[in-house]
Amino acid sequence: MYQSVNDQADLISNHLQDTISNIKIIKSFGNEQYEINRFTEFSRNYREENLKATRFWSIFVPIINTLNELGNLLTLVFGAWGVMVSHLTIGELAALLTYVTLLNKPINRFNGLVNIIQRSGVSAKRIFQILDTKIEVKEKENAINLTSIQGNLKFEGMEFAYHNNQSVIRNFNLDIQPGMSVALVGSSGAGKSTIAKIAARFYDPQKGRVLLDGHDLQDISLSSLRSHIGIVPQETLLLYGTVKENIAYGKLDATDQEIEAAAKAANAHDFIIGFPDGYQSIIGEQGVKLSGGQRQRIAIARVLLKNPQIVILDEATSALDSESEQLIQESIKQLFKGRTSLVIAHRLSTIADVDLIVVLEKGEIVETGTHTELIAQGGRYAYLYELQFVKSGN
Ligand SMILES: Nc1ncnc2c1ncn2[C@@H]1O[C@H](COP(=O)(O)OP(=O)(O)OP(=O)(O)O)[C@@H](O)[C@H]1O
Ligand SMILES: [Mg+2]
Repeated sequence: MYQSVNDQADLISNHLQDTISNIKIIKSFGNEQYEINRFTEFSRNYREENLKATRFWSIFVPIINTLNELGNLLTLVFGAWGVMVSHLTIGELAALLTYVTLLNKPINRFNGLVNIIQRSGVSAKRIFQILDTKIEVKEKENAINLTSIQGNLKFEGMEFAYHNNQSVIRNFNLDIQPGMSVALVGSSGAGKSTIAKIAARFYDPQKGRVLLDGHDLQDISLSSLRSHIGIVPQETLLLYGTVKENIAYGKLDATDQEIEAAAKAANAHDFIIGFPDGYQSIIGEQGVKLSGGQRQRIAIARVLLKNPQIVILDEATSALDSESEQLIQESIKQLFKGRTSLVIAHRLSTIADVDLIVVLEKGEIVETGTHTELIAQGGRYAYLYELQFVKSGN
């Protein structure tokens, strides 16, 4: 009973959180009324479930009370009869009545207790659900701290599936030597971002291993592993705060000079000083709005400031105008300089210079080679390249 009350409360809070954080999408589709209706329906269901629970108790409590009072009545009737046939004194009857009345209180309290136990039972169940949530990756107790690394990233016979057990990556082998740059290309849903997430150990593969300088990622402490890896994710996440704070997120104790140098290398400095408050401009609702390309360059500056030995760039899918495209290309070059790099490229122009291109389809490698080799081969890569070439019309 209280389970469904809680379930309804859940729906309401999920919906609230969802609609408030996605308010722009909702407005852009003009779906305000639709969401208001959904909210009204969830609220109505919540009220109904609460009423059901209350109705139950409003019947249950009087029944228990009546039974109690009936007990008193019976005691009185049989007691009086006992006095009349005189095997009971009036004093004894009075005592008996007092005892029965005394007994009523704990019985009533017990009723209330049942109610509380029911409610807290449901809450406890929820708490245990959260406590029992499986942690995606666990750090070993004797995990090693790698203070410095060469930057050799190697995937060996890797297989991976998300929770639904449908395999997303199959038999994936790749050896990225220190300082080497590798590009992953393939259709949407091929598993590219998944590989990036496994490389940074947000997930563990079910089969095979991922090695950093010959150490299984699972043997390395998460903090030292992630200190050596910088990620520019597919969706750039900016935090509420100033531009400076957002770049400094890569190195919390960075000096102003370091932050500026990183921004310059990422081709972000010029647009930042164009803002009224420069590096102190607030990003977000009340502050400066950034274009997709600008966000990406901030994300690149962040990683440049962190200066890791390995970088993973999951390129945003959104199209860029040719000018920011050019600026991003240059900042990516800075990012890859002297580092082991894994780039997931959607715009194939990004990867003309990489050492190796790996073409992934449905979780499996279908082709590997350099740009020139793969074009000459005339396979999947050549096809994808042709497609972009024709589409962009140059
Ligand atoms: N968190 C997740 N839980 C379950 N399945 C997921 C999850 N993330 C991705 N998938 C599935 O795994 C497959 C590979 O997804 P992935 O994000 O790696 O593709 P991708 O190659 O990066 O695609 P895109 O080019 O669109 O970014 C897809 O079928 C996707 O639906
Ligand atoms: Mg992706």
